[in-house]
Amino acid sequence: MSNRMWGGRFATGPDAIMEEINASIDFDQRLWRQDIRGSLAHAAMLAATGILTQDDVDVIAKGLKGIEAEIEAGRFTFSRALEDIHMNIEGNLREQIGLAAGRLHTARSRNDQVATDMRLWVRDALDQLDEQVADLQLALAEKAEIYAGAVMPGFTHLQSAQPVTFGHHLLAYVEMLARDRSRLKDARERMNECPLGAAALAGTSFPIDRHMTAEALGFARPTANSLDSVSDRDFVLETLSAASICAMHLSRFAEEIVLWATPQFGFVKLSDKFSTGSSIMPQKRNPDAAELVRGKAGRIFGSLQGLLTMMKGLPLTYSKDMQEDKEGTFDAVQTLSLCLAATAGMVRDMQPDLKVMKKAAGLGYATATDLADWLVRVLKMPFRDAHHVTGRLVGVASAKGVGLEKLSLAEMQEVEPTITDAVFAVLGVEQSVKSRVSYGGTAPANVKRQAKRWLKQLAKD
Ligand code: ARG
Repeated sequence: MSNRMWGGRFATGPDAIMEEINASIDFDQRLWRQDIRGSLAHAAMLAATGILTQDDVDVIAKGLKGIEAEIEAGRFTFSRALEDIHMNIEGNLREQIGLAAGRLHTARSRNDQVATDMRLWVRDALDQLDEQVADLQLALAEKAEIYAGAVMPGFTHLQSAQPVTFGHHLLAYVEMLARDRSRLKDARERMNECPLGAAALAGTSFPIDRHMTAEALGFARPTANSLDSVSDRDFVLETLSAASICAMHLSRFAEEIVLWATPQFGFVKLSDKFSTGSSIMPQKRNPDAAELVRGKAGRIFGSLQGLLTMMKGLPLTYSKDMQEDKEGTFDAVQTLSLCLAATAGMVRDMQPDLKVMKKAAGLGYATATDLADWLVRVLKMPFRDAHHVTGRLVGVASAKGVGLEKLSLAEMQEVEPTITDAVFAVLGVEQSVKSRVSYGGTAPANVKRQAKRWLKQLAKD
């Protein structure tokens, strides 16, 4: 039997393989809410403009709401023969209400329908992700306030660089996540236009009111060009790109958690709730959640790459390739959402070992810059000379196998005769972080202030 929706000129139905490659219902059924919402708005507009009678539209609306209830209750049977969510719903509507169902598709095509559904779905996804990123920011800012003054090593090249505080480190991620949120918000704002009514590609000869449907669906305005409306997926790409950048941030943090939780670093202990054991090694506590956050970032990037590649060769307007926009997008959003929840959970439960962190902060001559700065400030040495003198002092200490603070004044004066014992005051890690009072620096008072600012800000949004 040929397809009832579009099979007028077909003598037979599709080959089984054709049906399999063509059907999207297995994955696009999750658009059912958006599809019904779009259809209700479209039908109401068709009545308001006199294109359909109010009686027909009442019957259509009642039928659509019935289908909504059926799907909600898990009683709806989706059929591959009906290809996608749009035709599954319309096909079922026809069974429920008969002929009037066929009028719903007046002045509409699946091309503008799917573009509308996808925008509605992506818009909700952006809102949900924003909420979850904000929750992770909150978890980080709360910890940052508590540990504003907890000294830990700061690294460059993963080598000891200068002491920082744990709170400062956590707030770095709060800043990154704030930019992630601003990217999500940007994407939302730009995509908030309604393609419904663009029809197949050229618009329609019916006197539709696109402003009315746009408003009913919560869009800022209708899209301005019908060809563009049905053929672009840049709003999905922007979403995936913002999601990828956010996933990259989570992945870097996850990598740090993996390192920090090793016995060798020992900076943090993850809770039992966010660790796993080994089936052979009884001592193990593995940071699987962090590893998976790191690993899953790749999947999200893959969805972005997949969609960019799928779109790049498509002439205007719609091509069926575009049906491939969905699985990667759904997967990426679901994956990021899970990663955000897991990261927030790990952060909330994480126990830093302040003693271990502080001890590690002093390793590797991490206060050498403080010494050089002291030579500049107190002895008025040019920084380059101070750098050189400090380098030689580090060489002496390192040859003895001790820290800078363990050198005697006499040993220091052999390298630089004008050094006084006041220098010892700047060689401690606490002193070092306290001195970093420049705007954005790691001084505990700064960090506390920033953490409070974030907590206040996050309570507002
Ligand atoms: N399932 C299709 C998709 O997701 C809907 C649009 C189909 N349009 C068409 N002209 N075949 O892209």
